[in-house]
Amino acid sequence: MIRVRFEAAGGAVLDVEAPPGARLLEVAQNAGQPLEGTCEGQMACSTCHVIIAPEDFGRLPAASEEEEDMLDLAIGAVRTSRLACQIVLTDALDGLTVRMPAAHRDMQGR
Ligand code: FES
Repeated sequence: MIRVRFEAAGGAVLDVEAPPGARLLEVAQNAGQPLEGTCEGQMACSTCHVIIAPEDFGRLPAASEEEEDMLDLAIGAVRTSRLACQIVLTDALDGLTVRMPAAHRDMQGR
């Protein structure tokens, strides 16, 4: 199993385990994280935007150009932002820390 840590925008931490081959989007949704994933992985919505902990970012395979284009549109995107629907868990990602973006707060100007 691969361990994943989710950090809510408010700071709450949740540790889960998922089998290799699971998509991060589904793992997050099953763990009750607030990711809509509206387009179900078609890279057409960016509602699955997450922020990878900087120390873990280098372990992920690079984003495709399409993914980068969607991230440009994501609210609150940062250098280590990714689309959770594009990330498949492998043993190399064990211990990954994933943060939920605080998009709703950004829209209200904090
Ligand atoms: S679910 Fe729409 S881009 Fe990931």
